[in-house]
Amino acid sequence: MSSFIAPMTTGATPPNPSAFTKDEFTFIAGFLKQRSGLTLTEDKGYLLETRLQPVARANGMASCSELIAKLRSGGAPTALVTQVVESMTTNESMFFRDTKPFDHMKNVILPALKAAGKTHVRIWSAACSTGQEPYSIAMTLKEEAIKFAGMQFEIYATDLADKVLDRARAGSYSQFEVQRGLPIMLLMKYFTQCANNTWEIKNELKSMVKFTPGNLLESYAHMGRFDIIFCRNVLIYFDEKTKTDVLERMAAILHKPGYLLLGGAESTLNLTKKFTPSIEHRGLFTLT
Ligand SMILES: C[S@@+](CC[C@H](N)C(=O)[O-])C[C@H]1O[C@@H](n2cnc3c(N)ncnc32)[C@H](O)[C@@H]1O
Repeated sequence: MSSFIAPMTTGATPPNPSAFTKDEFTFIAGFLKQRSGLTLTEDKGYLLETRLQPVARANGMASCSELIAKLRSGGAPTALVTQVVESMTTNESMFFRDTKPFDHMKNVILPALKAAGKTHVRIWSAACSTGQEPYSIAMTLKEEAIKFAGMQFEIYATDLADKVLDRARAGSYSQFEVQRGLPIMLLMKYFTQCANNTWEIKNELKSMVKFTPGNLLESYAHMGRFDIIFCRNVLIYFDEKTKTDVLERMAAILHKPGYLLLGGAESTLNLTKKFTPSIEHRGLFTLT
């Protein structure tokens, strides 16, 4: 069996002979793409190994090869499949990440919805990770409550990974996490300081968000229709075809006027014409 060598990514790092044969890499890349949309290029062999080793070990297996053989046999228990898929997700998030999307919501989108006579606004945080995004949406709505009095808001938050949803529901964050992006005034107002230097979101905010498991590759039909979708920092992991499919299915469940907010490195350009990028407001896309 020929060994698949992951190419070096920086001049300083020594060569990292991957633990996978080319055949194993092709299998696991296809397996992950089918389940989560993650597109793994061959230079990510090192990442695969770093993430899968602990899963193999935790399940009493000697190597990633043994783990892959188990997956290939078709006899892997669902819990193991879940662990493998979740281990490969990147869950990095922070409160008010990039700031602008939350400004766009309060300064552009909500006034437009109000002007259109909307009284019930549904917001979807797709790929919400550990909850900082939907809770930032909730804090923004609370802070703007007087301006949008008479409007009701529903925040629906989904993610593929159960491990992050559990954390999001608990709403408990470390000192480090609340120091990233969260204004101190909002920390004091909406969080309670707990033991071990952790901070817990108050119930008035928790109760505004409904967390549910959701895979962006699967149907959105059961979720109803939305006015605003935050889909940030997840499309970057998908190939073009998957991005187009996700964006077009999101367009199909948006009311008109409908709004999509993407991450700083994401766009609908060259993928679909169902959204029109805003010229003045970076990261904001309007249903065409
Ligand atoms: C980098 S985080 C982004 C979190 C947040 N939106 C933000 O911008 O801070 C990406 C999240 O996407 C989730 N994810 C990856 N593939 C997914 C899929 N197919 N369906 C739903 N969520 C997915 C991961 O579990 C992870 O929590």
